[in-house]
Amino acid sequence: MEGMSLTLVSETFLDCCDEVMVPGPSFSEYEFSGTLMGAKVKTVPLSGNYQYHVEDILSAVTERTKILFLCSPNNPTGTILLKSQLQQILDSIPKSVLVVLDSAYSHYVTSNDYTDGIEFVKAGYPLLVLQTFSKVYGLAGIRVGFGVSSPEIISGILQVKEPFNVNALAQLAAAAAIQDDEHVQASRRLVTEQRKKLYAKLQALGVGYTESMSNFILVELGPDAELIYRKMMEKGVIVRYGGTWGLPNCVRVTVGTPEENDMLIEVMSEVLA
Ligand SMILES: Cc1ncc(COP(=O)(O)O)c(C=O)c1O
Repeated sequence: MEGMSLTLVSETFLDCCDEVMVPGPSFSEYEFSGTLMGAKVKTVPLSGNYQYHVEDILSAVTERTKILFLCSPNNPTGTILLKSQLQQILDSIPKSVLVVLDSAYSHYVTSNDYTDGIEFVKAGYPLLVLQTFSKVYGLAGIRVGFGVSSPEIISGILQVKEPFNVNALAQLAAAAAIQDDEHVQASRRLVTEQRKKLYAKLQALGVGYTESMSNFILVELGPDAELIYRKMMEKGVIVRYGGTWGLPNCVRVTVGTPEENDMLIEVMSEVLA
């Protein structure tokens, strides 16, 4: 088994002075991996309610653009790139741009308009889909992810990849996890059900949020968000403060078990009071 990582993708395809495009706010590793290779990282803002805007993305492409990183569901907003939007991007973007679709959270999506991208790879589009064992499979500590793409793109990456980049124990764990459909289904069910319940409880608290297709929800707490985040932490509930994504009024909360979610809401309402 060969492992895939964002830095490996950037090492393979980027040189100094290339441009990388990231619709954002999004997962910080895209920017990190581009910067590591000396590339210029261009952030294209998501639209007002954190939706992807295809025209904005396409019009930001220049002759230097080498990689477009798309994250769907997007971390930290939980919003998705629609299947029709991916189709439009792949049909319109210059062939010199590698489109990378990180569908790390794909298993939590319930929308019919979603694609994890693999069908587009099968249809022959020059797309690289990234997946990880760190999310629904619950194995972040084994550090394994994989990529799905055309033989040409994969063979380019294999030229750069160091040998044996996934250790034998991690391979065993990954091989077992990918067959554990029961776990995946149970986790999907839990998140789908608890996500809805959290929406209702956040509404009851009078708190705004963005509807999510992932296992986290971006919650709008206003100018006191950082203070609320700190006070919640003092009471034993860790949420992620949005400041690092340029979202100073927000926190990202993980959808947990019913007990964890009850505790989250209880502590949040105490702190808000
Ligand atoms: C969108 C996205 N992709 C990938 C990852 C990381 O996956 P890994 O643990 O395989 O590096 C994360 C983790 O936060 C993520 O949010």
